[in-house]
Amino acid sequence: MSEYTSISGNALLEDTEVDFDLFLRADAGGSSNYVLYCRGGEDLSPERREELLSKHADRLCISTEDVDKYIEYQEKNLKKIINDENRSTRQKSGIVYQVATKVVADLLENPKSGKNIERISEWATNTVGHIIQDNNALSGLLGVSSHDYQIYTHSVNTSVLGLLFGKHLSFNEDELTRIGSGMLLHDIGKLAIPVNVINKPGNLTGEEFKVMKKHPKEGFKMLEYRGNVNSLSLKIVLQHHENYDGTGYPYGIGGNSIHLFARIARIIDTYDAMTSKRSYAEAMRPFAALSEMKDKMHGCFDEELLREFICFLGPEDQREKRRSGDTIYSFPSVK
Ligand SMILES: [Fe+2]
Ligand SMILES: [Fe+2]
Repeated sequence: MSEYTSISGNALLEDTEVDFDLFLRADAGGSSNYVLYCRGGEDLSPERREELLSKHADRLCISTEDVDKYIEYQEKNLKKIINDENRSTRQKSGIVYQVATKVVADLLENPKSGKNIERISEWATNTVGHIIQDNNALSGLLGVSSHDYQIYTHSVNTSVLGLLFGKHLSFNEDELTRIGSGMLLHDIGKLAIPVNVINKPGNLTGEEFKVMKKHPKEGFKMLEYRGNVNSLSLKIVLQHHENYDGTGYPYGIGGNSIHLFARIARIIDTYDAMTSKRSYAEAMRPFAALSEMKDKMHGCFDEELLREFICFLGPEDQREKRRSGDTIYSFPSVK
């Protein structure tokens, strides 16, 4: 038996091709029936869309099998969605987050695909638009972000935080796009690390940690030869585990020899890991994580930047208030 997933009435845009079937749910006698409303592949005329919005907005569904197609549709139309004045910040943020999660999941599955790398920078460019236009994007995006640690949710969370913090620091659009892409890609080198090390619950042995420490260089190698990843994004991939006092890896460089973007990445990467639920630890609350970073991790961070990050984020991170069911799809574990 087919299963169906509700989608929002205004999820569909005028004059776009919808390549998945649309159904209307009819509830009667405690059960639901699903009636085909519009066959995939038909253009959604303004009249039909209007009819959907006015009469059936709360009954619109798709087959659960088509959820991937639905997210691809959102990805293809992301710019239009972001510029649509009739959508709330919350809805836009939810779509931005969902699309990013799919893009990163696809990239992790097929990291050699040039197309997947292009999708990363396209997403970052569109999301910069959302963040610049909408002053509520900060609470919108933090409100929808997941706090369950997986490589792809971690990549999306850090990217979103990097973009928002970059806006707070008055970076220009190009710089924001580089940060957004770099953060999405920063841990891609973990694909080259054995799964038993990546997913090990508990502390790594000295030997295992040595292996884990290879991921920044591995990521850099994977992306560098492609030639279509900006050098500033690559700095994030290569240097995001360098400590300000020179005790980090892979090179043990310190101070301002670490690129500003990578110093930002070091802070955001740590913050997201601490505030996410991992296989070996519960998620910490934002305040506790920031306090620990400030008081117990001396030398890891550029302190001036960390102070700025605390000012920027302090009262805003609402992840613990996130409602369940905000995203319609949860991705499978990435090995
Ligand atoms: Fe990393
Ligand atoms: Fe990371």
